[in-house]
Order: sequence, then C-alpha cells, then structure tokens
Amino acid sequence: MKRDEAKRHRYDRLSCNDQHSFSVSPLSLPALEKWNWGEIGRDLSTRGYARIRHAIDPCVCAALKNLSANEQVFRRRIDMARYRFGVGEYAYFADPLPEWVALVRCRLYAALVPLANRMMADLGRQMRYPRSFQKFQDQCRSSGQMNPTPLLLQYRAGGFNCLHRDVYGPIVFPLQAMVLLSRKDHDFTGGEFILLEQRPRQQSRATVVTPDRGDLIIFPVSERPVTGRRGPVRATMRHGVSLVHSGERWALGLIFHDAQ
Ligand SMILES: [Fe+2]
Repeated sequence: MKRDEAKRHRYDRLSCNDQHSFSVSPLSLPALEKWNWGEIGRDLSTRGYARIRHAIDPCVCAALKNLSANEQVFRRRIDMARYRFGVGEYAYFADPLPEWVALVRCRLYAALVPLANRMMADLGRQMRYPRSFQKFQDQCRSSGQMNPTPLLLQYRAGGFNCLHRDVYGPIVFPLQAMVLLSRKDHDFTGGEFILLEQRPRQQSRATVVTPDRGDLIIFPVSERPVTGRRGPVRATMRHGVSLVHSGERWALGLIFHDAQ
C-alpha cells in the first residue's frame, strides 16, 4: 500500500459512525510498547507527572471529540457549574465503551501496574494491583463500582475546572491519564493543566503543564510518595484546569477504577 493510500485508509477506518464506537485499526492505537517507561517512571517520581508528546494521532483526537455529538455513547452529562466543580461540561462514556477507549484503557492500565504497585509500596499501602484489567474491574464490581469513568471534557472561554481528586469509591487505581484533543494556542488559549501537591507540614506547590493536541499526561489520582528526610512520605495531589481565555478546549480523561 502506498503511503497516501495507507493514510487515507487509516482516516477512513477512524471516521465516526452512528453506532457505539468508531472502528479501530491497529494504526490508530498508541504504541505503548515503544514509550520510554523508565523515563515515565522517573518523571512521575521526580515531577509528579509524565507527559508523552504526540502520543495520540490528530485524527484519533478529532474522532474522539466528534463522539460528543452522539448521545448514545454517554451515560451521564455533567454541567460543572451546577455542582460548583468549575465551568464547563463533561460526559461519562456508557458501557460498552467506544472500542478505542476500552482498548487503550485496558493496555495503559497493564503498562501502569508496575508503577502503581511501586507507588503503593512506597506509600506503605497494602494494596497491590493485578496485571489483568479484567481482574481489576472485578474488584471494582465487588465494591459496587460498576459505572465506567472514562470521560470527555469540554471547556469554552471562561471555563475552568476546580482542583479535585477523581475518587469514585473504595477501589482507587493511583494513576490516571488525560489526552488533550485540541490545539494549544490555536483552538484555545489559557486552559493549562494544574497539579497541586501538598506535602506534610509544607505549603502547597503547583505545577503547570501546557500539553498540546495528542499529548498524554499520566498523573496521580489522589496521592503520591515523595522523598522526605526519613524516607518516602505521602503527598496529597489534586488537579484541575486554569481559566480558558478563548476558544474551545477538549480532553479525554482515562480513569481506571469505575464509579459507584
Ligand atoms: Fe479530574
């Protein structure tokens, strides 16, 4: 297959249909096995987050964003202002998840398990996560967490997301991911991704991340181990989005535990 033809084929396979998902070609999936997982682990422990640039193809970003027009794909829409979560809208995907979302969530989970288990050990927690995403989902179900949590988020000018933690029940996978679906400084301005870290007996410190379209950010859900004077200590983590000044900012959130 010639290069242009291959590209056209790839785009055709990614076009949205009016079913529950868009078709998945192997080319549309991120090459997780090629990511530098050593560096990702180091970035998570030193900076508190890891950024994989150009992780997701622009065409996939567009296809994900276009799913927002399909009501059948979602189980619940939230007007953030109504709950004082911020200003914007997010929508949780329904079961069954769009095929691409389900596959990437499952594969990313498996890749993150060693990092999550190391975090648990450093935090002094007993919890260890199974390599199999199916087994982890069974754990969620046995805790009454049956509702899928992957979501699409949309902010317009004036939008923002208050600092928060994505905990939906007793079972919590300690890492989550976000993919920016819009072009920074082109589709929107402002709307930086904010991480707030609270170390014991210290004032809070903020980290500002400015991803671009297709970048995937991995970050802690609610806490992370940091090095203290006498070994690892627990830092509480929150995240949010700063004020969007203009345009529209879309993102995909991949949370691994399900909701009650
Ligand atoms: Fe969140």
